[in-house]
Amino acid sequence: MTLTAPTPGPVPALAPVPTTAMAPTADPRTVTQHDLSRVEGLPALPERTLAPEELRRLVEALAARPELWQEFAAGDAGQRHYASLHRDAHLDVWALFWNVTDDTGWHDHDTSSGAVAVARGELEESHLRIPGPHSRRRLAEGASIQFGPDYIHRITGGVDGAVSIHAYSPPLWRLGQYSIDEHGVLRRITVSYAEELRPR
Ligand SMILES: [Fe+2]
Repeated sequence: MTLTAPTPGPVPALAPVPTTAMAPTADPRTVTQHDLSRVEGLPALPERTLAPEELRRLVEALAARPELWQEFAAGDAGQRHYASLHRDAHLDVWALFWNVTDDTGWHDHDTSSGAVAVARGELEESHLRIPGPHSRRRLAEGASIQFGPDYIHRITGGVDGAVSIHAYSPPLWRLGQYSIDEHGVLRRITVSYAEELRPR
């Protein structure tokens, strides 16, 4: 009896897809698409570091303007990715597209303050508690949060196809990524904003 190797089937296309990080890559979707200081109807962008409440007003306004970000979601259902909407010396703004399997892991934003608005679907945000169970809350469509550099959190997709708008000031350069080992020991490593945020 002769055994023959199975005929290989079609090879699935493995297009590179940036993962859910706040990071630019060579992917064209991450090219800054808008100079938000020139978009009418948005809060004015001061030429200085923005406060958390200013970032929050900006992401809330952007979440209500899908024409500024929805083009980056089209055709990518089921694949997580992000797009840089704006970056200058004081501010960077991102649109993130989520699935329920997406998980940033525990992280901080180093020296940056930030804000997040849920533009579509929902996210879940967790906070680290020592001791005790970590807290977890739902961020529904229309919800927003703001935070300073001391903030530690973890965000996961609440539903497939969720979209959130993120703004950071000063612009993200580094983040702290945390791991908790089997003995409960917490560790922090510094990661570049160009690296993928993920559980560690
Ligand atoms: Fe974050």
